[in-house]
Amino acid sequence: MARFTLPRDVYHGKGTLETLKTFEGKRAMVCVGGSSMRKFGFLDRAVSYLKEAGMEVQVFDGIEPDPSVDTVMRGAEAMLKFEPDWIVAMGGGSPIDAAKAMWIKYEYPDIEFEDMIKVFGLPKLRKKAHFCAIPSTSGTATEVTAFSVITDYKKGIKYPLADFEITPDVAIVDPDLAETMPKKLVAHTGMDAMTHAIEAYVSTAHCDYTDPLAIFAIKMIQKDLTDSYAGDMDKRASMHNAQCLAGMAFSNALLGIVHSMAHKTGAVFEDQGAHIIHGAANAMYLPKVIAYNAKNEEAAARYGDIADHMGLGGSTNAEKVELLIAHLRKMNDALNIPQCIQHYGADSYPTEQGFVSEEIFLQRLPEIAKNAIADACTGSNPRQPTQEEMEKLLKCCYYDTEVDF
Ligand SMILES: NC(=O)c1ccc[n+]([C@@H]2O[C@H](COP(=O)([O-])OP(=O)(O)OC[C@H]3O[C@@H](n4cnc5c(N)ncnc54)[C@H](O)[C@@H]3O)[C@@H](O)[C@H]2O)c1
Ligand SMILES: [Zn+2]
Repeated sequence: MARFTLPRDVYHGKGTLETLKTFEGKRAMVCVGGSSMRKFGFLDRAVSYLKEAGMEVQVFDGIEPDPSVDTVMRGAEAMLKFEPDWIVAMGGGSPIDAAKAMWIKYEYPDIEFEDMIKVFGLPKLRKKAHFCAIPSTSGTATEVTAFSVITDYKKGIKYPLADFEITPDVAIVDPDLAETMPKKLVAHTGMDAMTHAIEAYVSTAHCDYTDPLAIFAIKMIQKDLTDSYAGDMDKRASMHNAQCLAGMAFSNALLGIVHSMAHKTGAVFEDQGAHIIHGAANAMYLPKVIAYNAKNEEAAARYGDIADHMGLGGSTNAEKVELLIAHLRKMNDALNIPQCIQHYGADSYPTEQGFVSEEIFLQRLPEIAKNAIADACTGSNPRQPTQEEMEKLLKCCYYDTEVDF
């Protein structure tokens, strides 16, 4: 049985943050990250709208980028004390994802993290609280997805939690929140969204409901991302919608091994000073994975479709795949994102010799490849890589060499 699930309400457009005034409930816990939402005044506005709606409000702040299991447990404890009937998560993917996981633990205090990561294995939520997500970055689309990504720093592994139970009840997609993003964040989150849409379109779980969303998102991102990066706020608003459409697609069509590889390389070089930012990892790996997947005829035809919709030219699928790869690499250059791990340097900008030395990379490669194959996103990829293939693919992502297998 195929299922297509989205939040019941998606409020979108400038000023929609005010929708919080119409919420009904007794207590709202507002979950935010470090400081950006407070600094730019969005937290105060959200809190006052909820109070205007007659709710008691408590703020849980300080959720770090790439949130940890510990943070999730602390947040759930705070929720158990405050007993909110609304959880309002605001900010980038990190605080919203953390709040989703806290919600699970709040509803089921005895559940262990190991049980939370069983794919589509969560018990029914909403016995205690409903969930509203308000994104301030234009990429993860976690405001409409059935996913949350939590990092186990002891293992250096990012775990995707996946279940329609954690698809939020309400999403507020207000582009005002995205206007304060620094350029680099625009670039990374934008390429994350592009990866979501492309992986959803070629996923083995794609369907007639997800395809139009994925294709339209790809076209919007192609048209608007670099202008948004350059500071055009109309395009910034358009990107906020595009990433959300991409999210609607991938939440229901799932993803592929670009994400498997990004999840398993993100935190593993932390000790080398290289935290590989999610969107940057995707941007580097996507062209390589397209070349690998395109050895599958059906996937090549789907990439050909994408290239056609993007107006890239080419007559055979092989030509179209080449043009798509070239276009994505050009986007990376325009957004100042490196093309490979070896060149991933300070502030995630391209550099001749990045943080991760060849020696360290090769040492950790077998384990990373094993973990990437086991990632929840691998199952819906058009090709199922063997250990040897995954190692080869990751090497191409390290050295920026051609994928010919
Ligand atoms: N749940 C999903 O479906 C899904 C999908 C893709 C990625 N993810 C996960 O989401 C996380 C990444 O989320 P992200 O890319 O949104 O970044 P993020 O939430 O980690 O935020 C990155 C930084 O940007 C700042 N920031 C956020 N919004 C801002 C704004 N409007 N203005 C200025 N600064 C702002 C934050 O304070 C933070 O320092 C990763 O852990 C990734 O694995 C989740
Ligand atoms: Zn992503």
